[in-house]
Amino acid sequence: MKIFNDAAKLQKWCLGRKRSGAKIALVPTMGYLHEGHLSLIAAAKKTKADEIVVSVFVNPVQFGPNEDFDKYPRDAKADIAKCRKAGATAIFMPEPSAMYAPDHSVFVNEERLSAGLCGARRPGHFRGVCTVVAKLFNIVQPDTAVFGQKDYQQAQVIKRMARDLNFPVEIKVAPIVREKSGLALSSRNTYLSEAEKESALAISRSIASVEPGRRAAKERQRISKALEKAGLKVDYVEFVDGATLENVKTTAAGVCVLVAAFAGRTRLIDNRVL
Ligand code: PAF
Repeated sequence: MKIFNDAAKLQKWCLGRKRSGAKIALVPTMGYLHEGHLSLIAAAKKTKADEIVVSVFVNPVQFGPNEDFDKYPRDAKADIAKCRKAGATAIFMPEPSAMYAPDHSVFVNEERLSAGLCGARRPGHFRGVCTVVAKLFNIVQPDTAVFGQKDYQQAQVIKRMARDLNFPVEIKVAPIVREKSGLALSSRNTYLSEAEKESALAISRSIASVEPGRRAAKERQRISKALEKAGLKVDYVEFVDGATLENVKTTAAGVCVLVAAFAGRTRLIDNRVL
């Protein structure tokens, strides 16, 4: 497995591989890899790509000033070992200075799907995500890129960016990986105390309990109450059209229920497509 820290070197290698006819799959991550990330690598391998490039980069531009950029968990050594074991052929681990020049001044903004949900609560977040993913697409020039459904809105925003900016990349979205308890895997779960982890189970439980054909407003209320009762602070509970992310009135098939809630100081998100 090749290890790159330099964007230009990785780009040169990827272009060379493509010229030789190789197909490339990209798995963008922020590291501290868990089974969820490994499932993305497995999905990338399924595309029969010749090269599986995993990027590990805690992207400062997608964190707000009061968010957890500094304390976001990092473990480069373990990530390298996990990528190697999972069958990645290259890993890209740049320093922020290798991705952003001091006078970096071009950003990518998706203006519709980013407006609500996490975009409304985390101003600038999707601008940071789109910018770094566009850069990764230009550096790696992948045929396929794999993202997790755990970040449902992010996956929709990236699909839209790829479509609207004509990136020749097929975007694949891999299902959420959960603990046996139902808790969706996330690097941020490491912040949780045992008690917070227990409370957090209310998120997956409540979205699992939604059935089709109900009034979304009532279901929102019911879920919010259940989350509060478990000791969580609700950031949002929304029922949206899975493609447009616009609010819907009924919990029909194809509708996505999305939840963001705080367990202590840790913000957790989860979702389910009905
Ligand atoms: O989902 C993530 O881990 C990040 O938002 C991504 C897509 C790697 C961009 O930094």
